[in-house]
Amino acid sequence: MSTHKHTHAQWSSRIGFILAAVGSAVGLGNIWKFPYMIGQSGGSAFVFTYLICIALIGFPILVAEWMIGRRGQSNPILSMSRVAEQNNRSQLWSIVGLSGVLGAFLILAFYSVIGGWSINYIVKVGSGAFAGQDAAAVENIFAGLLGNSKELFIWHSVFMGLTVIIVALGVAGGLERASKILMPLLGICLLIMVGYGVFSGGFAAAIDYLFTPKFELIDSKVILAALGHAFFTLSLGMGIMMSYGSYLGGEINLLRTATVVVIMDTVIAILAGLAIFPIVFANQLDPSSGPGLIFVTLPIAFGHMTSGLLLGLVFFALLTFAALTSAMSLLEPVVELLEEKTPLGRSLSTLAAGSVIWALGIAVLLSFNEWSTVMILGNNIFDFLDKLTSKFMLPLTGLGAIIFVGWFVHGNIIRQELHLSTAGEIIWQIIARIIAPIGVAIIFVSSLGDV
Ligand code: PHE
Repeated sequence: MSTHKHTHAQWSSRIGFILAAVGSAVGLGNIWKFPYMIGQSGGSAFVFTYLICIALIGFPILVAEWMIGRRGQSNPILSMSRVAEQNNRSQLWSIVGLSGVLGAFLILAFYSVIGGWSINYIVKVGSGAFAGQDAAAVENIFAGLLGNSKELFIWHSVFMGLTVIIVALGVAGGLERASKILMPLLGICLLIMVGYGVFSGGFAAAIDYLFTPKFELIDSKVILAALGHAFFTLSLGMGIMMSYGSYLGGEINLLRTATVVVIMDTVIAILAGLAIFPIVFANQLDPSSGPGLIFVTLPIAFGHMTSGLLLGLVFFALLTFAALTSAMSLLEPVVELLEEKTPLGRSLSTLAAGSVIWALGIAVLLSFNEWSTVMILGNNIFDFLDKLTSKFMLPLTGLGAIIFVGWFVHGNIIRQELHLSTAGEIIWQIIARIIAPIGVAIIFVSSLGDV
């Protein structure tokens, strides 16, 4: 710690930290992927499978990343190298931090483009663009947005600009304050939507879709999907949680706090299902996942509902809040690194990092139109960045973090950090040394199959 300035920022409260961590965890995955996965892959039997994956893989890696950050009190690279040094381990471990920061950097470039769609849809819904439109027209509106590089550019810039402003304001004054405002707003939007869903006429069908246990659907593919999602949904393997951990003081109980974050992330994802699917079923539409569900299926429904305009606004506001709190968490590790490694202060570091990522985002948005034929290893730029990060960088970074903490950090440090009883320590070791690394390794190897 000798080289460390004591000015390193800190969260101002435990609740602020929790909201920021939940804000990072709750993102597009919770809204456009998880509810659909539940419905298609076993209902409550899937939720059960997923919770096991969360407990055995997501949870321990979340704790490991926070622990590294808190002990390192620095950006992910320096935190890894400090903790390695405290344990007389090779400085090469800092590579784990480096690949996390790099992953966050690359992901934000395309995450911001999608965040831009979300803001644009607030405007579209608000101006009545979907009112009375049929499915083909709504599909055309979405295709039209993707084909229009100028429009994409504007909304990507707006989204990135908002992210930069929040992050530039600092840890307590920016990230934490924004989370304290946006997360309750997200919660209110979600409850309004679920409340509407209850009376929409599609609620029973949604409950049936989401919760009827279908254990016969749980096969190895479904378990793999649950594993992968448990990892992705907690924003692991991208330096985010290390960076967020570096602003933590010693008084925070990591195990208890991780439990709260994991539960909130899951509850919000399930509520998102209860917000979305009643509308889908009440309008006789087919459930789907991904951008199509959000930017086509739902707008078709909004266009035909009496309070569709209002509800559409609430929904895209919700999506934008979820995307913003995740985007700011992606920018943070990069900014923390610049802030500590260069003479630039917080604002300039944020501006510099944000500008480079914004520029890369322009290449991403062009890959939907003018540059759609530009291929990197057989993928357009968007798909390439998505696959490179989610299939390679994130699992490998997460694997590095958990192997490091499981095998290379001294037992007394773990005891001190986690306040474990003897029995607790044995359980922790079995999970952190064996189960979680094997789980992530399986995610990694299996995802190579469909690159
Ligand atoms: N955890 C987010 C989700 O579930 C995903 C995410 C990815 C967040 C990248 C931040 C950065 O959607």
